[in-house]
Amino acid sequence: MKIITAENAGFCFGVKRALELAARAAEDGSRPVHTLGALIHNPQEVARLEARGVRRVESLDEAPVGAVILSAHGVDPAVEAEARARGLEVIDATCPFVRRAHQHIRTLAAEGYSVVILGDPEHREVAGLAAHAEGKATIVTNAAEAAALPFGGKYGLVVQTTQRPEALREVAGELAERSRELRLFNTICEATMKRQESAHDLAERVEVMIVVGGRNSANTARLREICEATGTPTHHLETADELDRAWLVGAARVGVTAGASTPDWIVAEVEARLRELAGEEAG
Ligand code: F3S
Repeated sequence: MKIITAENAGFCFGVKRALELAARAAEDGSRPVHTLGALIHNPQEVARLEARGVRRVESLDEAPVGAVILSAHGVDPAVEAEARARGLEVIDATCPFVRRAHQHIRTLAAEGYSVVILGDPEHREVAGLAAHAEGKATIVTNAAEAAALPFGGKYGLVVQTTQRPEALREVAGELAERSRELRLFNTICEATMKRQESAHDLAERVEVMIVVGGRNSANTARLREICEATGTPTHHLETADELDRAWLVGAARVGVTAGASTPDWIVAEVEARLRELAGEEAG
């Protein structure tokens, strides 16, 4: 059994940067360090950070003193302002690509566009994006929802960084038919696109796909959907011990991909376990 890992998989620039900022803050040791929500969507890596003294809190009330790290997904600007007003040190780990989307949303809102965000309304990145339109954004998850928007408006479209280009194309097409004017910022990040393309190409060449990453990770979920759409049996797992030998029976080639928030050490463990299982199959 051959194990092939996708050309682009695992940690992206924004996640690496967020983890480096957190590690540096923890090493310093001069004050308590908190993250507001999970710094990244990978429970195993978040647990490692906690072991190094970076405490996850869900609200500023739980962080009376010290530093608070804003997650790679970005936050509501009101929360950031509140943290500063309380005298907390703010360490901004917001991915620069998410920051750029914030800026586009503010520009659109200031220029009188009705801001439409394509994304998952439950995701923290999307909540943060919407907050930059001062609550005036409409969040849509697909073209059918875009089709329900009033006809004849002046729309400005921004997209969650981890969405699929196909979804953007469909929503943009719908809005183009419904608007007098449409301005579009394609804010899907390059890391996302590369991982999606690599996952798709690999899924077409193997008999089984393994997608590694947090179950709470939006970009990992997209990778799973993309692999499944090729018709190749696909399994999403967080850690190597979830691998099931029954998935591999009769497979000559197994593909591995990983979300942008999945650390290399977890991918390496999955590859090693796959090699073990392959050896047992052959033996
Ligand atoms: Fe940033 Fe894209 Fe990663 S938005 S956090 S580089 S997936």
